[in-house]
Amino acid sequence: MTDDNSMDEKKKLKNKLEVARRDRAEALERAKIADEKALSTIAKLKATRDILQATERNAAQFEAEAVELERKLNVIMRSQATIPGSSDESQNKKLEQILSLEDPPEVQEIIKAYHNSMDKKSYDHVWRERRDLIMSYLERGEDRLSRALARIRRAEERNRAMGLDLRRWIVDDEALDLPWRPAAAAYRSAVVEAVMDAVTPQTSKIIETGSGWGEHLCNIYLEGGPAGATYYALELEKEGRICSLLLASLDPLFNLRAGFFDYRQPDYSMVEKDDGHTILLTAHSIEQVKDIHQDCLRVALTLSSRVTGVHFEPVGWQTHDRNDWRPWTQQHYERCQEKSYNTNLVSLLRAMEAEELIRIRIMKPNFIGLDYNPATLIVWEKVVSAPSG
Ligand SMILES: C[S@@+](CC[C@H](N)C(=O)[O-])C[C@H]1O[C@@H](n2cnc3c(N)ncnc32)[C@H](O)[C@@H]1O
Repeated sequence: MTDDNSMDEKKKLKNKLEVARRDRAEALERAKIADEKALSTIAKLKATRDILQATERNAAQFEAEAVELERKLNVIMRSQATIPGSSDESQNKKLEQILSLEDPPEVQEIIKAYHNSMDKKSYDHVWRERRDLIMSYLERGEDRLSRALARIRRAEERNRAMGLDLRRWIVDDEALDLPWRPAAAAYRSAVVEAVMDAVTPQTSKIIETGSGWGEHLCNIYLEGGPAGATYYALELEKEGRICSLLLASLDPLFNLRAGFFDYRQPDYSMVEKDDGHTILLTAHSIEQVKDIHQDCLRVALTLSSRVTGVHFEPVGWQTHDRNDWRPWTQQHYERCQEKSYNTNLVSLLRAMEAEELIRIRIMKPNFIGLDYNPATLIVWEKVVSAPSG
């Protein structure tokens, strides 16, 4: 090969190399543009997906809100309730109906025999006076549940001369001097909060046995308790049940049912069973009965797939060995003996736990209350066996 030929070949190769380099650079540029386009398409797709997901979530939320609104509308239609402040003919009819509530003769007999056998005063007269107090406010036009409840409580506190003066309280098994009325409010709030801690989206029923005038159930509802749940005020005394129904009648969406209940021969037949979650509350009512029937707790387990018990009962001395009692526990024990207060709540719960029917989650002896009768907080849950297979 001549030198000239070899120069030509070199030139050609150089040109080819340059063309190849240019093609490569152009290809890289095109790839880069394609990459950027792909990335921007992915980003757009992701944004579209996010919008779609959010829309789906909103649709589900709207759907749930629509169902809830429909439920409320149905309740209002069914109850033919009046809007607070408007014409109150049907409300008056409802109040008359509630006030004329009568127990069947056999229940009247049980209550009469109970009163006669008691070595202490029954709550019959307390709740009758409370009923008259409630009616006095309703007759004066108080038609909001929250205001009615607050005014009745204030009147009651005035009657008992409850002031801001210091009283000896027991809080978490320690003695403290606290202003009376605010501390009493803290006790009521503790009851509501303990129940609210137990609420789940499945909570379908909140039952209070020994519910008195229904104050706790009203507080729970007003403080955001589940709107769609049924609230059961189960109480021995008719006058107490009437109080609960009168108060609940002020809010047509507050689904409260009241029924006779006796801790000595419990009967939950008026309570509808379901697959949801039931909360069973008791507050200073088991205290009234020396030995409650074990079915007060055992039969409650059959009311829903899941059941939670919340007790505010003065049973601190039942929870631990006498050698570990604080001075107020000893005094409290003596008072419980004098008053024939409850002796078997904790042993019944422990027996159920030993049988793996329940699990006790919280046991706070002498959690909150005036020193002569502090409430112990107990929270338990029904043991749910894992589905087989
Ligand atoms: C101190 S009050 C508490 C009421 C309500 N739990 C509260 O905290 O406002 C005690 C309640 O227990 C009720 N009670 C007494 N003996 C009962 C029994 N054998 N069965 C069911 N409730 C009973 C009384 O009628 C009264 O309403």
